[in-house]
Amino acid sequence: MKKSTSPLLNTLFLLLASLATACSQTTNPDQTAATKPATAALNKKPGWWKETTVYQLYPRSFQDSNGDGVGDLKGIISRLDYLKSIGVGTVWLNPIYGSPNDDNGYDISDYRAIMKDFGTMADFDALLKGMHTRGIKLVMDLVVNHSSDEHAWFKSARASRTSPYRDYYYWWPAEKGTPPARYSIFDVKHDAWQYDAPTKSYYLHYFSRKQPDLNWNNPKLRQEVQNIMKFWLDKGIDGFRMDAFQFVAKDPSFPPMPGLTAQNFANAYNHGPHLHDYLQEINREVLSKYNVMTVAEGAGRNPTEAHLFVDPARKELDMTYHFEGVDVGSNSETYRLTDLKRVFTKWDSSFARQGWQAIDLGNHDQPRMVSKFGDDRPAFRAPSAKLLNTFILSMRGTPYCYSGDELGMTNIKFEKIDDYRDLAALNGYALVKSQGGNLPAYLKNLKRFSRDNSRTPFQWDATANAGFTTGTPWLKVNPNYLTVNEAAEEKDSASVLNHFRRAIALRKQHPVLTYGQYHLLDAANPHIYAYTRTQGNDKALVVLNFSAEQRAWALPAGLTLGGTPWLNNYPNFTAGPTLALLPWQAVVLPLR
Ligand code: GLC
Repeated sequence: MKKSTSPLLNTLFLLLASLATACSQTTNPDQTAATKPATAALNKKPGWWKETTVYQLYPRSFQDSNGDGVGDLKGIISRLDYLKSIGVGTVWLNPIYGSPNDDNGYDISDYRAIMKDFGTMADFDALLKGMHTRGIKLVMDLVVNHSSDEHAWFKSARASRTSPYRDYYYWWPAEKGTPPARYSIFDVKHDAWQYDAPTKSYYLHYFSRKQPDLNWNNPKLRQEVQNIMKFWLDKGIDGFRMDAFQFVAKDPSFPPMPGLTAQNFANAYNHGPHLHDYLQEINREVLSKYNVMTVAEGAGRNPTEAHLFVDPARKELDMTYHFEGVDVGSNSETYRLTDLKRVFTKWDSSFARQGWQAIDLGNHDQPRMVSKFGDDRPAFRAPSAKLLNTFILSMRGTPYCYSGDELGMTNIKFEKIDDYRDLAALNGYALVKSQGGNLPAYLKNLKRFSRDNSRTPFQWDATANAGFTTGTPWLKVNPNYLTVNEAAEEKDSASVLNHFRRAIALRKQHPVLTYGQYHLLDAANPHIYAYTRTQGNDKALVVLNFSAEQRAWALPAGLTLGGTPWLNNYPNFTAGPTLALLPWQAVVLPLR
């Protein structure tokens, strides 16, 4: 139902939807009159996920309500009015399921429970209701490439070779010798096979030793995953972000894959046998029965492969986000704007006619976007953060804002390994140390690229611990919270936060910013990223000065400005045949 493309089916769908809404309105006494219209309109429109802005919320770091130093669901509930106030339509919540937290919830020991640190199922139900009452959708992380080694399935599977759960995982019996080499991203030795003494076998783990890979060749496992999905969808959630799904399909005979390294393993694991059969099965059995959205992490090594996930005719997922954008400039001191333009333009043109993609510059696996793509020095932090938010909110696709980026939060840049909490950083450090490698160089790289940079607690105000907790935060608060915080930005109409609000409102007001054709201008310019967006007679020009210097940019022939800027991150704008742009100035202009 949700993916119907025929106008007739759409009309039928809308009719049924409005009937369903009418029924739910008479049977749900908790809804206030004021909230009904927003909720109903948002819930029922097919393809609603194209017009929403997604806010990625890292629950561990958002708001602690009980003083244990860890963010929790009650904390999020207390901030729902804030989320409503910034204008986001959907929240993607990082994993909140039962987990021993080896990888901050990406190691799940109970798919139908709430992590103790985060609260209870009653808290979850209240959170979902609170979001829906405010017209905000909730999308959950679905982490099913692997479970935790503390999941009941794995505990049983590792106890005996005849366990009914044995085939939920991948095993290599020791009598067959050493298993064919596989690379693990988080393992302290980068070895994806872990020997397990009770059954004299190795098990496979692409991520950490506490994240054994699930065997998707087993139909029983696939049925379990479908039931888990239904459990949450029946509670009323609005979709899933599919974690590491591109890795789930594996050839169980484990043919040799020589020469796997940090650089090539992801490509090698991508798109194993039957991957799309699995997705089509999920769509048929589960997704097609709900009006929800799905987004695949890092789907496909290139746009052609990405389309296989999201081509509507194939009935798999709704949208994908690629890694190529956030990867520009990774592991180097700087990046070239021309590379960023090339990558985003390539992906846009490949989705120009069909399919849909997410637009993002940061997430919980990446450094802070303003530290990486902007300029986090005090003089340029605010304008460059505003510029990056302007970019995300003026591209075609669904914008994803990572929590804190709406304030312009920056990398914390820890000096000592003891400050880090991420297993990727800690295990990487242990490996370099065991090899007698260059630890100062490793620490320097972490300072710029560690995932903990984007996981520091949300900066609410200038009180102790930025108002995040009354206890000791699980990860240090960025000391710049005294000036960079929500309360201060709330009061300042020129803040990054209020600019973000204006940018979202603009996107809602002008559909050309969501759907309009994208056309890159001046591709070779190393400092200016400029493009037009066109939909029928509506036309907008976006000009972004990606530099800390003033720049002049000549308006290309054939473009005529149609008035004052729709959005500007400075109070002034000098129009004319040549635009005079201030450092990190970002303008969205109507065109005639
Ligand atoms: C995804 C998540 C990342 C996690 C990994 C293993 O890449 O985004 O945070 O560590 O999967 O689940």
